[in-house]
Amino acid sequence: MTIDNTLRPRIVATRTLPDTALARLRTVGDVWVSPHDRPLSPSELGRAVAGATAVVTMLSDRIDAAVLAAASSGLRIVANTAVGYDNLDVRAIARHGAVVTNTPGVLTDATADLTLALLLAGTRRVAEGDRLVRSGAAWTWDVSFMLGTGLQDKRLGVIGMGHIGRAVARRAAAFGMEIVNSSRRDSRPEALSLPVGLDELLETSDVVSVHCPLTSQTRHLIDAVALEHMKPSAFLINTARGAVVDEAALAQALSTGTIAGAGLDVYENEPDVHPGLRTLDNVVLAPHLGSATVGTRARMAELAADNVVAVLCGRDAITPVSVP
Ligand code: DGY
Repeated sequence: MTIDNTLRPRIVATRTLPDTALARLRTVGDVWVSPHDRPLSPSELGRAVAGATAVVTMLSDRIDAAVLAAASSGLRIVANTAVGYDNLDVRAIARHGAVVTNTPGVLTDATADLTLALLLAGTRRVAEGDRLVRSGAAWTWDVSFMLGTGLQDKRLGVIGMGHIGRAVARRAAAFGMEIVNSSRRDSRPEALSLPVGLDELLETSDVVSVHCPLTSQTRHLIDAVALEHMKPSAFLINTARGAVVDEAALAQALSTGTIAGAGLDVYENEPDVHPGLRTLDNVVLAPHLGSATVGTRARMAELAADNVVAVLCGRDAITPVSVP
């Protein structure tokens, strides 16, 4: 199908995108890029989507019925620049007649790498050591100075054995870890990991790593009760979505020694972080860096753009999200 240039579709990008992605979008429409170096407020989002045929969103943009009320019936696609899409009301967007797409696959390795970075930073006290050295406090090497936990022969419990969970399992196996997962689906022998129930995973793992999407079923999956099930020597890593973990309960568990440590890349109310976490030495805090490599972010934006191009040219979306 060819595009009629006299009636160019309006494509909205809620944040700036790499030039390669913008160039692809400009082949099929007039692109408006938000001039603000911050997420748009709900009312700004509403104004931005009015008259749009396609919207390229970030995980910080909430597209719900209220925002969609401002959109025209011509809206055909909401392309999220993220694999997670809990920021989008997929049902409401489908009712509006538009398709939702996400960016699976292209960020698997980057996110798995970051998960291992947090795991190592926490268990080997790297961030804590960095703060110590920067503080100028006196320190000397001795046999009991700043000891951490080795990973060899330790058990990693993966919650959410999708692409990223499996990539984390492969990396952890290379460090000599034994892997278990709580996904009934992932019982294939080549999966490197043993499926177990969630309680067993929590009770027996030395490191628990969260990789499930945020849904109504997984919100606060790791709450005070789940944390109580974990070993006092265990670490919790979350590079999925903040609200899978009850942040207040985690701050309490870390400060009272219910678990030994944590590594977090995501937060319940990003960019806010529970104040109880910021003062603790046994948690490593990263600012949602899972997919933050130059190549990965370019590929995410390009995949979002390619989805827009496909839909606006009358083809099927490349990576559509199914409507629940
Ligand atoms: C995603 O794509 O959902 C990630 O959280 C982005 O880093």
